[in-house]
Amino acid sequence: MSSESPNPPPVEVVWHGGLVHPGDRQQLLGQRPLTVWFTGLSASGKSTLAFALERRLIDLGHACCVLDGDNIRHGLNRNLGFSHEDRTENIRRIAEVARLMNDAGLIVVTAFISPYREDRRLAQEIVGTDRFFEIHVSTPIEICEARDPKGMYKRARAGEIQGFTGVGAPYERPISPALEIDTSVDTLEECVGKVLSRLLELLLPETEEQISGTVQP
Ligand SMILES: Nc1ncnc2c1ncn2[C@@H]1O[C@H](COP(=O)(O)OP(=O)(O)OP(=O)(O)O)[C@@H](O)[C@H]1O
Ligand SMILES: [Mg+2]
Repeated sequence: MSSESPNPPPVEVVWHGGLVHPGDRQQLLGQRPLTVWFTGLSASGKSTLAFALERRLIDLGHACCVLDGDNIRHGLNRNLGFSHEDRTENIRRIAEVARLMNDAGLIVVTAFISPYREDRRLAQEIVGTDRFFEIHVSTPIEICEARDPKGMYKRARAGEIQGFTGVGAPYERPISPALEIDTSVDTLEECVGKVLSRLLELLLPETEEQISGTVQP
């Protein structure tokens, strides 16, 4: 995390630099690591898009991995709920994991509602602005609610789920995302095509001059 972290590690915890330069990994894997951050309402299509994108990237020879909201709550973040505080911690941990995976050279694709602007800003700060590619899956709530694959909107409207994003809790739209995708307008294939056409150039390995320093906390 940056030096502005509200919880810096104790002084006896000292960063130990490695012997592998980020450029070594880029050369080995033939790609520049990025975090593709999908944000949007429940049922907007984040997971569907993320896994389809992962499939395409792997088929194109890119080392890539999805971090999916529901999946992560089965393991790493199983102790977190959906209060504002827990959602913030959820996103903070995911961003730290994404950063570690990027440091390992992987392309990371995340699929989290991540409804709060400040949480996404923090995620961007943790991952690094130059590695963070935010995509707003802007499918309108009426469409998401009509899809309702998990029956969550129905339960939220019935008052069975408190603080459900879009019903009892806000979704703060990104102000200037790198890309906006509406899955009610384009087919899944078209959506993935749009993302790929923006991404492929960004994934080219950087030159030595472009790689800024070694990995630091
Ligand atoms: N073009 C499209 N792209 C992605 N999903 C689509 C598209 N068209 C229809 N869908 C459907 O929309 C639904 C989206 O569900 P999905 O689980 O991907 O949403 P999500 O944003 O990950 O929701 P949650 O935040 O609850 O995990 C799926 O049933 C999917 O088949
Ligand atoms: Mg999902």
